[in-house]
Amino acid sequence: MGMRVTKHSQSVIGLLRALNVEASAVPRARPIYRRIVELIDRGIARGSLAPGFRLPPERDFAAALRVSRTTIVAAYRELESRGLARGYVGRGTFVSAKRDGDTPFAWRGKISATALQTTDSTLRDLMRHAADPGIVSLAAGEPALDVFPLEAFRVAMDNVLSRHGTTAWGHGPTEGLAPFRDALAHRFGGSAANMLVIAGAQQGLDLLARCLIDRGDTVIVDRPGYLGALQSFRSAGARMVGWDIARADMGELEDLVLRFRPKLIYTNPTFQNPTGVTISIRARRELIELARRFRVPIVEDETYCELALGSTAPPPALHTLDEDGTVVIRVNSFSKVLAPGLRLGWISAARPIIEQLAIMKQQVDPHTQNLIQLVVARLIEGGMFDRHLGVLRVEHRRRRDALAKALQRYVPDNALRFVVPDGGLFLWCRIEGDVSARDVQQRALEEKVFVVTGEPFYADGGGTRELRLCFTARPTEASVRAARVIATALGDAARAVVHPEPISRIV
Ligand SMILES: Cc1ncc(COP(=O)(O)O)c(C=O)c1O
Repeated sequence: MGMRVTKHSQSVIGLLRALNVEASAVPRARPIYRRIVELIDRGIARGSLAPGFRLPPERDFAAALRVSRTTIVAAYRELESRGLARGYVGRGTFVSAKRDGDTPFAWRGKISATALQTTDSTLRDLMRHAADPGIVSLAAGEPALDVFPLEAFRVAMDNVLSRHGTTAWGHGPTEGLAPFRDALAHRFGGSAANMLVIAGAQQGLDLLARCLIDRGDTVIVDRPGYLGALQSFRSAGARMVGWDIARADMGELEDLVLRFRPKLIYTNPTFQNPTGVTISIRARRELIELARRFRVPIVEDETYCELALGSTAPPPALHTLDEDGTVVIRVNSFSKVLAPGLRLGWISAARPIIEQLAIMKQQVDPHTQNLIQLVVARLIEGGMFDRHLGVLRVEHRRRRDALAKALQRYVPDNALRFVVPDGGLFLWCRIEGDVSARDVQQRALEEKVFVVTGEPFYADGGGTRELRLCFTARPTEASVRAARVIATALGDAARAVVHPEPISRIV
C-alpha cells in the first residue's frame, strides 16, 4: 500500500525514506514498538540512519503509523536503552551511535552527554608519541630525562623505605603529607597549610576549572596559551577569551575585563608555554592591581619559573607581588624540573579554595602517592633538587642552542622564524609564507619526527602557521636530526603550495 506523503510531517517522511519503507508497511505484529525498534536498529546498522539523525517527534510518528503515542515512547525508550538513540529535553530524540558488532547495546550511546563534550585528545596524542621509541618527539614538553638524578633518587627512596615504610604504604591526607608540604613551603615559599598536593599541574588546573567555573563563565587565558589548561576550562563550560601574552598590553587586558567580566584570569607569565615569553615586573604589578580592582582571581601557572637559561633571574612571581595572598592561586609541578612520570605538583591558594579543591580531589584521587612525596621531600631538603636544577639548566641551554643552530642551518630562506627564549622548554616558531603547520607536521611524522602545531594553543582560533618544538626532550644529536627532517618537510610543503595564477595573466 502506498504512503500518502503529504499527510505526514517532514521528519516522519525523512525517517521512512531513510529506512526505505512506507508507513503502512511497518509490520503490525505485536508488540509493535519492538518492530519499530528493529526497523530503526537495522537502519542504523546499515548506515542509512547516521548518528545525529533526528527521529520524528513522538506525536507525528504515532499519527503516521496510526499507533498510540505510548507505542512510540516505548520504542524510543528501548532505543535509548540499547544506546542507539538519545533524547534531549526540548530538542527531541537523536540517533546516537551504531551497535558495536553483536553486543546488546552500543557503548558509545551509554556515554553521558557531558562526557561526550570532551573530545579533544591532543594531550593524549602528545603523550603517546612521546612514549613511542620509534618516533623522535619534539612535541610533548619534557626536561632532559637522561640527566635525572638517579643515584640521589635511589638513596632517597631507600631512606624513605627503611624509615617511613608504613607511611609510604598507607593512606595519607588528601592535602598531602605534612613533611612534603613543609619542604615545599620552605623551598618555594607560601604556607604549608594553604597547599594541596596534586598529581601534576594538569590535575590542579582541572580541579580549579571545576571548582571555579560555572557553564558560560568567561575565563581570560593567554593567547596563545597552555593547551591542557584550555582543555580543562573548555570542559568546564567556560567561554575563553584570549589575551596576547607577548604584547602584555594592560590596556587591552582592562578592556577585556570590562567587556567580559571574567570569572578568572589564567596566565603562565614566566617562560610561557608555548611562546617562552616572560612578562615584565611592571606588567606583573599592573596585573595584580587590575585583579584587585576588578576582584578577579588570577591562576598563575608557575610550571617553568625555575627554568631560566640566561644569567638573569625572571621577575618575581605574581604570588610574591600579591603580598597578602588574596588574589593569586599558584599551580606548580615537578614535571619539568624532575620528571613528568612522577606526576607530582601542588596548588597554593587561600584556605577556602584549598578546602574545596581537596574535597573535589578526593573524589577522583583520594591523595597523591605518599612514596613520591616523601622521596621528593628528601631531595629538596638534602639540596639534591637544587643541584639537579643547576645540571638541568646547563644541559637545557646546550640543547636549546643546538636545535636553534640546526634550524638556522637547515631551514631554507628563513622559512621559520623564532626568538631564542631565555628559559622554559620550547622554541615557538612561525612559518613564513602560505605553508600550513599541519602539512609540515604530517610530512615530518612520515619521517618519524613529531611536532605540535600552534592550533591547540589558541582558544579562539589561530596557530595554523605555528609550530612548537621542545628543545629539551631529546639529546642534541636526535634533535639536530629532527631539525633536518623539519627543514625538509617545510621545503616540501612550500613546494606543494598551489599559488593562484596572477589575475594579470588570466585576463
Ligand atoms: C604551563 C603548563 N602547565 C601545566 C602543565 C601540566 O604539567 P603536569 O605534567 O605537571 O601535569 C604543563 C605541561 O606541559 C604546562 O606546560
